[in-house]
Amino acid sequence: MKTNVLTILVAFAVLVVGAADTSRAADGKGTAVQKSFGKTAGGEAVDEFILKNAQGLTVSVISRGATIRQILAKDRDGKVADIVNGFDDVAGYEGEGNQYFGCTTGRVCNRIANGKFTLDGKEYTLAINNEPNHLHGGVKRSLDKVVWKGRLIEPKRGVGAAFSYTSPDGEEGYPGTLKVSVRYVLTDDNKLSIRYSATTDAATPVNLTNHAYFNLAGAGSPTVLNHELQLEADKYTPADDTLIPTGRIANVQGTVLDFRKSTRIGDRIEELTDTAALGYDHNFVLRNQTGENALAATLRDPSSGRVLKIYTQEPGIQFYSGNFLHGQKGKGGKEYAHRSALCLEDQHYPDSVNQPSFPTTILKPGDKFSKTTVYEFGVFFK
Ligand code: GLA
Repeated sequence: MKTNVLTILVAFAVLVVGAADTSRAADGKGTAVQKSFGKTAGGEAVDEFILKNAQGLTVSVISRGATIRQILAKDRDGKVADIVNGFDDVAGYEGEGNQYFGCTTGRVCNRIANGKFTLDGKEYTLAINNEPNHLHGGVKRSLDKVVWKGRLIEPKRGVGAAFSYTSPDGEEGYPGTLKVSVRYVLTDDNKLSIRYSATTDAATPVNLTNHAYFNLAGAGSPTVLNHELQLEADKYTPADDTLIPTGRIANVQGTVLDFRKSTRIGDRIEELTDTAALGYDHNFVLRNQTGENALAATLRDPSSGRVLKIYTQEPGIQFYSGNFLHGQKGKGGKEYAHRSALCLEDQHYPDSVNQPSFPTTILKPGDKFSKTTVYEFGVFFK
């Protein structure tokens, strides 16, 4: 009799929560859950991985695009809000409203001039999806649009999920079979580390980042113009009217791109409204060029007290102030208005494959692409 009751209870629990896999952090109170997030229009199953640490910070990642879907973080009063743009279902991610929300971006993030590059004497032609350039890896099978293989992992510290994808030779016009993986680990000190690795069987450009849109007052809040930003960058890469770097490296001093001291984003943005970028959409040259992890950006929201610090090994970071957001509807029907969220995409410089003076993005067979980005979440009191 007892066994029967137990069986019914277990069956009921599976019905209610779905067939969920769970794991617990080896070192603390963190938990991780894997569950179904539905199916793509093509019928592929998408899973969601929900990581929660001992402080209650929660990060969820879906296997389509190895995409950060939700970050639930406390403000200075302990009130929780979701601080990234996203959607409630796979259809949302597949729809027109999705401007790379939270995705892993590649094979080459940002722009390649005229969608062309030459490697070892051979010219490659890529999709033009941002006239007249190639943007964020292509149209149909860029890394943000494919379903990755995901699984829960048990890191030494914290909780985590790992995603892998094999991009066949020629996919989106890029040479070489690229085996790529992204590993998210959330620790009890409120750090989310994102480790990217890749190998190839033929030389190919690789530039990977995450395209999370943050509003530290809560995604769907009207603006990010009151956020304060500090970038560890003395220089930037000036670009032409199609946002392709000219090849020059210029000082931020005396320009609206000077974020060496924490500065309110709205203070000078109007000076950029009439440019091709419609606001901030610039690649900053980080002071740290050692390839070791260092602080790159500090974003503060005075209203909520939330702070985000970004550490990276990359030489550059794209600060994009959400100028192309247009009020599309996202999670819980929230509207994502013009400049209501911003991206800080740590990266190699745009169009590096055509710019011999920039640090190279070419991955060769036998070499391993590897980089780690850390998002650290906190609060400040004033
Ligand atoms: C990047 C680009 C922007 C824009 C967004 C996506 O940040 O630099 O110009 O294309 O992605 O909308």
